[in-house]
Amino acid sequence: MFVSDNLSVNEKGNLTIGGADTVALAEKYGTPLYVMDEQMIRSALRRFHESMEKFYGGKGLVCYASKAFSCKEMCRIVASEGDGLDAVSIGELYTAVQAGFPMEKVGFHGNNKTNEELRYALENGVGHIIVDNISELHRLEALAESMGKVPHIMLRIKPGIDAHTHQFIMTGQIDSKFGFALETGEAFEAIKEAVSCKNLKLVGLHCHIGSQIFDIDPFVAAAEVMIDLMAKVSRELDYSIPGLNLGGGFGIKYLNEHDPQPFEKYLERVSAAVKAKCDEYGFDQPYIYIEPGRSIAAPAGITLYTVGARKEIPGIRTYVSVDGGMADSPRYILYGSEYEAVIANKANEERSEKVTIAGKCCESGDLIGENMLLQHAEPGDIIAVCATGAYNYSMSSNYNRLQKPAVVFVNNGESRIAVKRETLEDIVRNDV
Ligand code: LLP
Repeated sequence: MFVSDNLSVNEKGNLTIGGADTVALAEKYGTPLYVMDEQMIRSALRRFHESMEKFYGGKGLVCYASKAFSCKEMCRIVASEGDGLDAVSIGELYTAVQAGFPMEKVGFHGNNKTNEELRYALENGVGHIIVDNISELHRLEALAESMGKVPHIMLRIKPGIDAHTHQFIMTGQIDSKFGFALETGEAFEAIKEAVSCKNLKLVGLHCHIGSQIFDIDPFVAAAEVMIDLMAKVSRELDYSIPGLNLGGGFGIKYLNEHDPQPFEKYLERVSAAVKAKCDEYGFDQPYIYIEPGRSIAAPAGITLYTVGARKEIPGIRTYVSVDGGMADSPRYILYGSEYEAVIANKANEERSEKVTIAGKCCESGDLIGENMLLQHAEPGDIIAVCATGAYNYSMSSNYNRLQKPAVVFVNNGESRIAVKRETLEDIVRNDV
């Protein structure tokens, strides 16, 4: 009935998430409110690392892509599952450090890392740095030498795979700001140079072909292309690269009609492809890293809003206005991303009307979604937007000087604050 398995209805007819009554959560913590289900996060992480065990003999690490949703509590949960982390800025690194995350399990990304960020990564013992371009390679080499360190690096490669997803979140093709292109020979030249750097140790190649991808074939194709490249490096440079990072990007179910493949299937097919290619070339299977973000965080989360107004424009549409909007839910205005929604206090009733859920920001495009199937909405109702655990809180802003909502974690019916709601004082904190 609901888009995520952790949602249900209790005896009061209220929507529950992870066993907690969402109407009670809205009352206790206020709205807008992000709610994350801890058990759902843990079970997604386990499904990935158990599949890594089952299909690839455990020779790999699941590195949760913290850009999807990062806060100290999330880092603690990932750490307690024994998984790694992908961080893409000093802010994400700092969050991990503050949470006591084992930094040797962190991969540091970014297409324009500053020297301050690189230094911070080295000082804090980050496991490896994924180098994006030649000037970064040179800067890192100089920095490592000056700090007397030999960091482990990977190189980000554009494998030239066309993944069928939104243009803004497609990254594997040649016209992308991320990484070294394979087709032009740029990648091979960069590898040659990296191998010759005295203060850097090349431990892997990395690729990430995009996000919200349903089809497994492009992942398999990318893995094969990467092993081909590793074989060329081994043959021509006599250097065997021990690691292969295949990025993230697994599609999830946002709408009832979506039917993503189970993660297990992805790992089964990719593992088989890597093994087959390695056998073909007669070399050892690399240590594999994957970086799922959305698939860990999105299905675990919902956002709760209170309806403030209903506006019926005969023959045109009905607007239902809520107390948040593009500041906490930016994906509709950015990508036209669609979600399922439920009126939490009417969860047992039929979803009988199609409405536009509008935010409270000062622009017409500020919508949570259009043509959303919903129970009859009235002021005071609590709307739950489903599968919002990834790229909502992490992409939220203070547009219109709105305060960012709190994040609450639920665990088997119990709730706790993970991130406090911003106060008005927070809004002017850095103003002078
Ligand atoms: N690894 C790298 C290098 C990435 O760039 C990303 C996402 C991931 C892993 C995780 O991908 P995931 O498993 O979450 O698909 N803001 C957009 C998504 C941008 C993804 C950026 N990179 C959205 O809201 O759809």
